[in-house]
Amino acid sequence: MNRAEKEAYLREYEVLKKKGKPFFPYAVAKDSAMALIVVLVIVLMSLILGTEQGPKADPTTTTFVPRPDWYFFFLFELLRIIKPYQLVPIATIGVPTICMVLLISLPFFDRGPERRPERRPVASSAGCLTIIAMAFLTYVGASAGPPTEIDLATKPELEAGKNVVLSSGCLGCHVIGDNGNHGPGPELTEIGVRRSAAAIERSLRVGPDLMPSYSNLDADQFDDLVAYVSSLRGEDEEATNGE
Ligand code: HEC
Repeated sequence: MNRAEKEAYLREYEVLKKKGKPFFPYAVAKDSAMALIVVLVIVLMSLILGTEQGPKADPTTTTFVPRPDWYFFFLFELLRIIKPYQLVPIATIGVPTICMVLLISLPFFDRGPERRPERRPVASSAGCLTIIAMAFLTYVGASAGPPTEIDLATKPELEAGKNVVLSSGCLGCHVIGDNGNHGPGPELTEIGVRRSAAAIERSLRVGPDLMPSYSNLDADQFDDLVAYVSSLRGEDEEATNGE
């Protein structure tokens, strides 16, 4: 923006400022009235509709699978697509911090008086791209690989064991394929390559370290579980049915 434009802008600003009303009390009064209405509506809704309370918190559960609320799905997805462990702090702390710093410093590096979106192509496209990227990550995070499913293909005779895994909360502590949580337990995608069925059976009976023992399952379920876990050999062609 050149000098002449800047002066024209400042003149126009002066004129508008003279015509306008002061922020206090006019705008403050309007804002307060709206804030009051919002609070009243919330109070009324909680009196009339009440809140829906989930099941009672159970600190001893081993089947709880932590999932973020929907508005954090974009961060959750960002974490899921970042595979190397060393990059995780960059994704969780670095990227959001850089974005916040950029946003806070925006008024210092973007001093243009222009307000119309179509005359601010850089700011408009950056804003739109951010919204599109977050919407996309939210969608993918919400729809892909829930920890209550295992996307690796399974031979029909092993389905029973897979269901035991799903209902026993293993994915709360282990990753299998794209599903589950990285830790505290090791990834199980290829556990069948690294450990014998006997060693896996022992782990499941003993429940090493933080892991609970699963010897309280019925014998059939326990055998199905061992059979399934020891069949895990990663995503080779044979196991994925050409996915
Ligand atoms: C509370 C978290 C937790 C749950 C739930 C859990 N595990 Fe674990 N699991 C662990 C941890 C931690 C280890 C590592 C223990 C160690 O290294 O001493 C482990 C180890 C294992 C191992 C041995 C891995 C190896 O490399 O030898 C197997 C197999 C295993 N878990 C399978 C399962 C299965 C199957 C389930 C569900 C039936 C399950 N785990 C549920 C935390 C858990």
